[in-house]
Amino acid sequence: MKIAIASDHAGFDMKLLAINIIKDLGFEIIDLGPTTNNSVDYPDYGKLVAKGVSNGAYDKGILICGTGLGMSYVANKYESVLAALCTNEFMAKMARAHNNANILVLGARVLGDDLATSIINVFFNTPFSNEERHNRRLNKILDLKKN
Ligand code: RB5
Repeated sequence: MKIAIASDHAGFDMKLLAINIIKDLGFEIIDLGPTTNNSVDYPDYGKLVAKGVSNGAYDKGILICGTGLGMSYVANKYESVLAALCTNEFMAKMARAHNNANILVLGARVLGDDLATSIINVFFNTPFSNEERHNRRLNKILDLKKN
């Protein structure tokens, strides 16, 4: 699985943590920046991951800013992207099992490193249930982006 990751300055340190977790899980990780914790605008980095997930270049993505809110706004603009801001393990599990999220969004100023680590592990170890009712509901959302 190819996973792309990006952050802004607020999420920079947590991005480094997430990269190591993904490597430990045995997945390929592509770091789309930034390369320092100098102040940047989160849309400039969020769009790199979201566009790549949308066009199939990456299987999944991780986006990290201060709260996770700005990165969520950006990512969910893109067709076929279902980006989920998760603040606990239950949300991470449901984001995959029911919502088939393909981008995990984290708030570095909201989560400690231990909780972020658990959330990342749960998210990338939980498959989509693929139940008809969930597919039906998600397709309704994905259709909204086409109009
Ligand atoms: C940056 O200060 C902060 O606004 C950003 O990281 C994020 O929290 C936006 O949603």
